[in-house]
Amino acid sequence: MITRLRSALATSCFLAAILWTNTTGVFIPNLSDSCYRCLCHVATCCQTSHGCTAGYCGPFNISRIYWIDAGKVTLPEDDPKRNHAWKDCARDYQCSKRIIEGYLQKFGKDCNGDGVTNCFDYMMINGNGGYGCTLPLNRSLNGRKWLERYEECRHSL
Ligand SMILES: *[C@@H]1O[C@H](CO)[C@@H](O)[C@H](O)[C@H]1NC(C)=O
Ligand SMILES: *[C@@H]1O[C@H](CO)[C@@H](O)[C@H](O)[C@H]1NC(C)=O
Ligand SMILES: *[C@@H]1O[C@H](CO)[C@@H](O)[C@H](O)[C@H]1NC(C)=O
Repeated sequence: MITRLRSALATSCFLAAILWTNTTGVFIPNLSDSCYRCLCHVATCCQTSHGCTAGYCGPFNISRIYWIDAGKVTLPEDDPKRNHAWKDCARDYQCSKRIIEGYLQKFGKDCNGDGVTNCFDYMMINGNGGYGCTLPLNRSLNGRKWLERYEECRHSL
Protein backbone atom coordinates (compact mmCIF):
# COMPACT_ATOMS: atom_id res chain seq x y z
CA MET A 1 0.00 0.00 0.00
CA ILE A 2 2.81 2.39 0.82
CA THR A 3 4.43 1.76 -2.53
CA ARG A 4 1.18 2.27 -4.34
CA LEU A 5 0.54 5.51 -2.49
CA ARG A 6 4.03 6.81 -3.19
CA SER A 7 3.82 6.11 -6.91
CA ALA A 8 0.35 7.63 -7.07
CA LEU A 9 1.59 10.75 -5.33
CA ALA A 10 4.46 11.05 -7.75
CA THR A 11 2.10 11.43 -10.69
CA SER A 12 0.94 14.97 -10.02
CA CYS A 13 3.16 16.19 -7.23
CA PHE A 14 6.73 17.24 -7.45
CA LEU A 15 7.25 16.86 -3.74
CA ALA A 16 5.46 14.39 -1.54
CA ALA A 17 6.44 13.99 2.07
CA ILE A 18 4.38 11.50 4.02
CA LEU A 19 4.16 11.31 7.75
CA TRP A 20 2.65 8.32 9.47
CA THR A 21 0.81 9.32 12.58
CA ASN A 22 -1.64 8.17 15.20
CA THR A 23 -5.23 9.26 15.35
CA THR A 24 -6.11 11.91 17.88
CA GLY A 25 -8.89 10.06 19.69
CA VAL A 26 -11.98 12.18 18.98
CA PHE A 27 -14.42 10.30 16.79
CA ILE A 28 -15.35 11.81 13.45
CA PRO A 29 -16.66 9.14 11.05
CA ASN A 30 -14.08 7.96 8.56
CA LEU A 31 -11.46 10.55 9.49
CA SER A 32 -8.60 8.07 9.44
CA ASP A 33 -4.92 8.81 9.21
CA SER A 34 -5.00 7.94 5.53
CA CYS A 35 -7.81 10.47 5.11
CA TYR A 36 -5.67 13.15 6.74
CA ARG A 37 -2.88 12.28 4.34
CA CYS A 38 -5.27 12.44 1.42
CA LEU A 39 -6.60 15.83 2.53
CA CYS A 40 -3.09 17.23 2.76
CA HIS A 41 -2.18 15.64 -0.57
CA VAL A 42 -5.16 17.39 -2.13
CA ALA A 43 -4.30 20.73 -0.52
CA THR A 44 -0.55 20.97 -1.16
CA CYS A 45 0.73 17.53 -2.24
CA CYS A 46 1.37 17.17 1.47
CA GLN A 47 4.30 19.57 1.45
CA THR A 48 5.28 19.46 5.09
CA SER A 49 7.84 22.14 4.32
CA HIS A 50 5.18 24.53 3.03
CA GLY A 51 5.38 27.63 5.21
CA CYS A 52 2.85 30.33 4.41
CA THR A 53 1.88 31.82 1.07
CA ALA A 54 -0.67 34.62 0.78
CA GLY A 55 -2.16 33.86 4.18
CA TYR A 56 -2.38 30.09 3.77
CA CYS A 57 -0.08 27.96 5.86
CA GLY A 58 1.32 24.48 6.18
CA PRO A 59 0.68 21.13 4.52
CA PHE A 60 -3.12 21.60 4.65
CA ASN A 61 -2.89 25.20 3.39
CA ILE A 62 -4.87 26.57 6.33
CA SER A 63 -6.11 30.18 6.58
CA ARG A 64 -6.57 32.17 9.78
CA ILE A 65 -10.36 32.18 9.33
CA TYR A 66 -10.36 28.38 9.06
CA TRP A 67 -8.24 28.19 12.19
CA ILE A 68 -10.68 30.44 14.10
CA ASP A 69 -13.67 28.35 12.98
CA ALA A 70 -11.77 25.24 14.02
CA GLY A 71 -11.55 26.50 17.60
CA LYS A 72 -8.12 28.21 17.65
CA VAL A 73 -6.03 25.11 18.14
CA THR A 74 -2.40 25.81 19.10
CA LEU A 75 0.80 23.98 19.78
CA PRO A 76 0.98 22.67 23.35
CA GLU A 77 1.26 25.54 25.84
CA ASP A 78 0.99 28.21 23.17
CA ASP A 79 -1.49 31.07 23.54
CA PRO A 80 -4.13 31.51 20.80
CA LYS A 81 -3.89 35.27 21.36
CA ARG A 82 -0.24 35.29 20.36
CA ASN A 83 0.13 36.80 16.91
CA HIS A 84 1.64 33.86 15.07
CA ALA A 85 0.20 31.05 17.15
CA TRP A 86 -2.11 29.99 14.32
CA LYS A 87 0.69 29.92 11.76
CA ASP A 88 2.99 27.92 13.98
CA CYS A 89 0.27 25.33 14.50
CA ALA A 90 -0.73 25.25 10.83
CA ARG A 91 2.88 24.68 9.76
CA ASP A 92 3.26 21.70 12.08
CA TYR A 93 1.77 18.48 10.68
CA GLN A 94 0.58 17.09 14.00
CA CYS A 95 -0.84 20.39 15.17
CA SER A 96 -2.49 21.15 11.83
CA LYS A 97 -4.23 17.77 11.95
CA ARG A 98 -5.90 18.99 15.13
CA ILE A 99 -7.03 22.14 13.31
CA ILE A 100 -8.59 19.97 10.60
CA GLU A 101 -10.17 17.83 13.29
CA GLY A 102 -11.68 20.86 15.04
CA TYR A 103 -13.07 22.17 11.78
CA LEU A 104 -14.58 18.83 10.81
CA GLN A 105 -16.07 18.36 14.26
CA LYS A 106 -17.98 21.54 13.59
CA PHE A 107 -18.82 21.16 9.90
CA GLY A 108 -18.51 17.44 9.14
CA LYS A 109 -21.50 16.15 7.17
CA ASP A 110 -22.52 14.29 4.02
CA CYS A 111 -21.84 17.13 1.58
CA ASN A 112 -22.44 15.25 -1.68
CA GLY A 113 -25.58 13.54 -0.40
CA ASP A 114 -24.45 10.00 -1.18
CA GLY A 115 -25.55 8.67 2.22
CA VAL A 116 -22.10 8.31 3.77
CA THR A 117 -19.89 10.79 5.55
CA ASN A 118 -16.37 10.08 4.42
CA CYS A 119 -13.09 11.59 3.30
CA PHE A 120 -14.60 12.86 0.07
CA ASP A 121 -17.05 14.99 2.06
CA TYR A 122 -14.19 16.29 4.19
CA MET A 123 -12.37 17.31 1.05
CA MET A 124 -15.49 19.16 -0.13
CA ILE A 125 -15.66 20.93 3.23
CA ASN A 126 -12.05 22.04 2.99
CA GLY A 127 -12.46 23.05 -0.65
CA ASN A 128 -15.75 24.94 -0.34
CA GLY A 129 -15.71 25.96 3.30
CA GLY A 130 -17.98 24.44 5.92
CA TYR A 131 -21.02 26.56 5.10
CA GLY A 132 -21.08 25.87 1.36
CA CYS A 133 -19.72 22.36 1.27
CA THR A 134 -22.45 20.92 -0.99
CA LEU A 135 -21.20 22.85 -4.04
CA PRO A 136 -19.75 20.42 -6.63
CA LEU A 137 -15.98 20.87 -6.81
CA ASN A 138 -15.85 20.43 -10.58
CA ARG A 139 -17.23 23.95 -11.15
CA SER A 140 -13.88 25.65 -10.62
CA LEU A 141 -10.38 25.13 -11.91
CA ASN A 142 -9.05 24.75 -8.39
CA GLY A 143 -11.83 22.33 -7.50
CA ARG A 144 -11.03 20.18 -10.53
CA LYS A 145 -7.39 20.07 -9.45
CA TRP A 146 -8.56 18.86 -6.04
CA LEU A 147 -10.72 16.13 -7.59
CA GLU A 148 -7.77 14.99 -9.68
CA ARG A 149 -5.51 14.76 -6.64
CA TYR A 150 -8.21 13.01 -4.65
CA GLU A 151 -8.29 10.31 -7.32
CA GLU A 152 -4.60 9.74 -6.62
CA CYS A 153 -5.03 9.10 -2.92
CA ARG A 154 -8.54 7.68 -2.54
CA HIS A 155 -7.33 4.13 -3.26
CA SER A 156 -5.20 4.28 -0.12
CA LEU A 157 -8.08 5.24 2.16
C1 LIG B 1 -3.38 27.59 -0.92
O1 LIG B 1 -4.68 28.08 -1.17
C2 LIG B 1 -4.68 29.25 -1.93
C3 LIG B 1 -6.12 29.75 -2.00
O2 LIG B 1 -7.00 28.77 -2.42
C4 LIG B 1 -4.10 28.96 -3.30
O3 LIG B 1 -4.08 30.14 -4.07
C5 LIG B 1 -2.67 28.43 -3.14
O4 LIG B 1 -2.15 28.04 -4.37
C6 LIG B 1 -2.66 27.25 -2.18
N1 LIG B 1 -1.25 26.89 -1.90
C7 LIG B 1 -0.74 25.69 -2.23
C8 LIG B 1 0.68 25.47 -1.81
O5 LIG B 1 -1.35 24.85 -2.83
C1 LIG C 1 -17.75 5.66 6.47
O1 LIG C 1 -17.41 5.29 5.14
C2 LIG C 1 -17.84 3.99 4.78
C3 LIG C 1 -17.31 3.71 3.39
O2 LIG C 1 -17.52 4.80 2.53
C4 LIG C 1 -19.36 3.91 4.86
O3 LIG C 1 -19.78 2.60 4.57
C5 LIG C 1 -19.84 4.34 6.24
O4 LIG C 1 -21.25 4.40 6.24
C6 LIG C 1 -19.27 5.71 6.57
N1 LIG C 1 -19.69 6.14 7.90
C7 LIG C 1 -20.63 7.08 8.06
C8 LIG C 1 -20.99 7.42 9.47
O5 LIG C 1 -21.17 7.66 7.13
C1 LIG D 1 -19.91 17.91 -11.73
O1 LIG D 1 -20.26 17.07 -10.64
C2 LIG D 1 -21.66 16.87 -10.53
C3 LIG D 1 -21.92 16.14 -9.22
O2 LIG D 1 -20.91 15.22 -8.93
C4 LIG D 1 -22.16 16.11 -11.76
O3 LIG D 1 -23.55 15.87 -11.65
C5 LIG D 1 -21.85 16.94 -12.99
O4 LIG D 1 -22.21 16.21 -14.14
C6 LIG D 1 -20.37 17.31 -13.06
N1 LIG D 1 -20.15 18.27 -14.12
C7 LIG D 1 -19.11 18.14 -14.96
C8 LIG D 1 -18.97 19.23 -15.97
O5 LIG D 1 -18.32 17.22 -14.91
